[in-house]
Amino acid sequence: MDEQKYAISQYPDVKEVYARLDRLIGQPMRPVRREKMQEFLAYFDDHCQRSKQLSDEAGQFIPGGVQHNLAFNYPFPMAIEKTDSAYLWDVDGNRYIDFLQAGGPTLLGSNYEPVRRKVFEMLETCGPVTGLFHEYELKLAQLVNRLMPAVEMFRMLGSGTEGVMAAIRAARAFTKKRYVIKVGGAYHGWSDSMVYGLHVPGTGRLESTGIPRGGTSSTEEIFPNSLADLKRHLILNRLRGGTAAVIVEPLGPESGTRPVPYDFNQKVRELCDEFGALLIFDEVVTGFRVGLGGAQGYFGIKPDLTVFGKCITGGYPMAGGVGGRADVIRCFAAGIGGTGERAYIGGTLSANPLSCVAGYHSLLELERTNAPVIAGRAGDRLTQGLQVLIDKYSLPFVTYNQGSIVHLETSGVMLLDLRNPIRLARELKPRKRMMEEMGAAYMSQGLITLAGSRMYTSLADTDEVIDDALGKFETVLAACA
Ligand SMILES: Cc1ncc(COP(=O)(O)O)c(C=O)c1O
Repeated sequence: MDEQKYAISQYPDVKEVYARLDRLIGQPMRPVRREKMQEFLAYFDDHCQRSKQLSDEAGQFIPGGVQHNLAFNYPFPMAIEKTDSAYLWDVDGNRYIDFLQAGGPTLLGSNYEPVRRKVFEMLETCGPVTGLFHEYELKLAQLVNRLMPAVEMFRMLGSGTEGVMAAIRAARAFTKKRYVIKVGGAYHGWSDSMVYGLHVPGTGRLESTGIPRGGTSSTEEIFPNSLADLKRHLILNRLRGGTAAVIVEPLGPESGTRPVPYDFNQKVRELCDEFGALLIFDEVVTGFRVGLGGAQGYFGIKPDLTVFGKCITGGYPMAGGVGGRADVIRCFAAGIGGTGERAYIGGTLSANPLSCVAGYHSLLELERTNAPVIAGRAGDRLTQGLQVLIDKYSLPFVTYNQGSIVHLETSGVMLLDLRNPIRLARELKPRKRMMEEMGAAYMSQGLITLAGSRMYTSLADTDEVIDDALGKFETVLAACA
């Protein structure tokens, strides 16, 4: 048998997942019992005083008291001081199993020594930045080209947000068309044109505070998984400037929180070809995590452009880039005199030696250790164990995974949408509150999750780590029964 190359051992039965999710949001919430929640929250008063002090102080100097918008902040932001492989330690010395993984990049586990050593070597010889060319830029671009089926050329940038901005700009420059179509609910970073239809499909500019109408006037959203909706937009756009690109997260919005049917991307590819739009895969999460060939390799589909972030530097700053067809990527300006005809992108610290050396050696280590597949197995084990617990306590909760991306929907808030606006208005806040509570309850047991509903697994998640985690999850889930 061929060695498994991708993290997803079995693609979820998407219809069945939606049926379970529909049942979840069709019934009353099952939060942690009140007296148990008090007990879980007492942990933070009893054991996290230094974090509390720091976060209180931070509120005076940092908007919202925290710089990173993904950090999970209920009842208050935890200050982390030390990391190693599968674990994080807060400033009060408490240890946590890390299923946040910084939002996805640390697929090798935290503070992975072989990469750290290479970064130190770079710092000792070159320092972090020169503003001039470094050989590691080339090495990284060559490696991405070798690993990712649809990447002929690669441009390194500072973040996933920048990668998306660049991809959209290139698509417009290349096609000379206007619109970009995204999927409602999907997150593609925080650039003006992409803060549109975030979280809840159909909400358009609801979260576009501070963005002029012009910033989003060439963005459209379609309903998740609706090819008919996509086709309708493509047809209409033909009459008003055309569609430059369709951008998708290939596993579905929010890293597969609304999973796509297996053949969805292929159908989107066909529609893009029919209407002369470019297909952009946002592989900020899936790139390298789903496998070294990304979701494009897993599904066997070639997007015209691919956006990278997160794993591209293995957790080191600055993680972003765009790759794809050489004829499209050549639309980017390079060097003085390259502008005018070409699309303007760049950045003082883009592709600095530190990011490139970290990215290059992280990707090599992912390959050497088969980390995507091993992390995927940990994801399978975690999901299977969670399902056993859900059944044991007769809970309506839903768990499924796409390799090392594990979903545990307990409140179902991410599944509400504008098709049922009355339910949305009534339930959005309480269900969001429950999601926060679940996150805090897990944390009180020594588990850090992404927003209480998603877990990323890594190379460091051995069977022992996962089984330990399942014991901690059980304490919380039993309290919901
Ligand atoms: C799918 C996707 N695209 C783009 C981004 C933006 O990347 P960054 O936070 O590096 O700007 C994210 C970040 O979480 C993401 O998940």
